[in-house]
Amino acid sequence: MTRRLNRIPHATDEKGAVTWFVGLGLGIIMASLAVAGGGDIEKGKTFYRQSCGHCHGLNGQGDGEMGGYLNPPPANLASEKTQSKSDTELKEVIMKGRSGTAMVGFEGALEDTDLIDLIAYVRSLKP
Ligand code: HEC
Repeated sequence: MTRRLNRIPHATDEKGAVTWFVGLGLGIIMASLAVAGGGDIEKGKTFYRQSCGHCHGLNGQGDGEMGGYLNPPPANLASEKTQSKSDTELKEVIMKGRSGTAMVGFEGALEDTDLIDLIAYVRSLKP
């Protein structure tokens, strides 16, 4: 009788453990993608081409088709000046924008993972 009673919770525990392990596995994969500085450059590039390229230029040189109309002009993202900034600083400008310039904030338009991908892409522009 005692044995039978013990077996029921045990069976449920096993199920719980499987779910837990799968969850943990996914968590580790996602965390390592983010922590490894990771970011998916290709995904970042896609977003960049849709949302940033017309100002900053396809290769980030600040030479997008709208660039010539803006004062100050879009930053050259491949430059030493931009590349020497920390990821946190870059994220801040991208999310909040820069007042007094055409750089608008993308807060709300970007998920955290998109931002990581985007930063990875911006870093890949470094000559
Ligand atoms: C409407 C034009 C426009 C769009 C769209 C735009 N930017 Fe900008 N960006 C600018 C301008 C203008 C500046 C300010 C340059 C300055 O401060 O002299 C700037 C500044 C920046 C900076 C700061 C560079 C530095 O060294 O301080 C980063 C990083 C940046 N943009 C990234 C992006 C990314 C990523 C996107 C797309 C998600 C984007 N921008 C979209 C115009 C634009």
